[in-house]
Amino acid sequence: MVQIGTREGAPEVIGTELLAVGVYRGESPPEPLAGAAAPAVESGDFSGKEGETVLLYGNGGLSAARLLLLGLGERGSFTLEKLRRAAATTAKKARDTGLREAVLVPPVSEGADVRSAAQAAAEGAALGLYRFTRYKTRGSGGSEGQEDGAADRELERFDLASADGNSAEALAQGAATGAATGAAALLARDLANEPASTATPEYLAETARGISARYGMETTILDRAAIEQEGLRGLATVGRSSSQEPRFIVLEHRGGGDEAPVVLVGKAITFDSGGISIKPAAGMENMKFDMGGGAAVLGTMEAVGALGLPLNVVALVPATENLPAGDAYKPGDVLTLHSGTSVEVISTDAEGRLILADALSYARRYSPAAVVDCATLTGACIVALGRHASGLMGNDEDLVAEVQAAGETAGERAWPLPLFEEYTEQIKGDTADIKNAGGRNAGALTAGAFLKEFADYPWAHLDVAGTAFGDTSPNAYTPKGASGNPARLLVEFLQARAQQNGEVGE
Ligand code: BES
Ligand code: MN
Ligand code: ZN
Repeated sequence: MVQIGTREGAPEVIGTELLAVGVYRGESPPEPLAGAAAPAVESGDFSGKEGETVLLYGNGGLSAARLLLLGLGERGSFTLEKLRRAAATTAKKARDTGLREAVLVPPVSEGADVRSAAQAAAEGAALGLYRFTRYKTRGSGGSEGQEDGAADRELERFDLASADGNSAEALAQGAATGAATGAAALLARDLANEPASTATPEYLAETARGISARYGMETTILDRAAIEQEGLRGLATVGRSSSQEPRFIVLEHRGGGDEAPVVLVGKAITFDSGGISIKPAAGMENMKFDMGGGAAVLGTMEAVGALGLPLNVVALVPATENLPAGDAYKPGDVLTLHSGTSVEVISTDAEGRLILADALSYARRYSPAAVVDCATLTGACIVALGRHASGLMGNDEDLVAEVQAAGETAGERAWPLPLFEEYTEQIKGDTADIKNAGGRNAGALTAGAFLKEFADYPWAHLDVAGTAFGDTSPNAYTPKGASGNPARLLVEFLQARAQQNGEVGE
């Protein structure tokens, strides 16, 4: 994995294989880089348009072997998200050129927050360089459109250089944070990209044990018998027909004394065939990603440990396959879930809400300050928001706003959707208290309304069906396949909470 750090010294004296410098539209890089860039800028070949790059050689005045001009677009509309993408573009360009290391001078305007900029740049590089190559024997993992061969070499170092020495410490802190938040998303991607026959519920449990061993967290893993014993009937029932045993994974990070914890819940259906209400064959391979929520929660815990966040954080990951078999649960069955609520099964393909309901009522024992769940829950959410935002619902306006803000900062957008009483009406049961599907209309919201029945604390729900994975690459730092979303949103949410606590405590 690429090492991300910082380099000191003025850009022109940094010895590196590639020095990248951002240029706003219609501008030139600062002196003395301006001289080297002049022919490209003056000829009009390079205009500073967002995403544009030009690689220059033979720059007598510079210690760097190559100078990469990076278009940043209009100065006035530059954002951290654009910086994340620019850093990804730089890192991939260096790698695909066959280089071992590169240095980026992150554009930080005067008075701007150097630390946040460095974090965004480090994240962009780490995320952009990601490839899932475990099963490639023929070397071709290059970025899209890349030829075989050189593309398979990995970049070893990516450094940020500060233009003014004063910011060196903020730059280093930001780079370290960005490396940690990036790593959270990369772990989530790796878990989700892994085929379902490997990434089983026990595989996720093993990953959780690894995290807890690294950072001294508490782990509790319930197996099939313990899940039954605990009354997690939704999880036990969905998992009944699979020869892979279900797991209920609990990870507890204690960094906040005796404060009420934040509980994170992640749906981990390691493969969703739909069960007896079986899905069409086309695209079913994508249902290995149906544990993307759980993967993001585990990734988040990795970052929580690495950053040593001064908060109590509990992760709950109900994990199982959803398969048809002779002993599978059936449409029409009635289950009494962990909370005591009875549910009529309309569709065995609405399995996510059953296992999440159990986790949400299990969370009550912590008297949590807040609970955030994330799940690839409904196709309807993809219809509503596409891949551009996660659906965000909840029972507490402030918490919903907090989650939305964290998503905006992280570049993992989430957009609020309503949970009107009418959606709850749609899932009122005939045979049981409620039913697990509310008809075609407002599918993301009836799913949210279902979960709301089990949350008796401040709660927010992220439907990440459209954002956790996809078969195209949505931006320079997100390849096709698993995105890791919403791991960085969750880390940002927790960091912001930790910081708030700190300020209140001062
Ligand atoms: N895992 C799916 C939702 C999903 C679909 C995620 C496509 C990502 C891409 C979920 O378990 C599901 O099947 N939901 C059903 C619910 C319906 C039966 C009420 C759906 O969305 O069709
Ligand atoms: Mn399903
Ligand atoms: Zn599912």
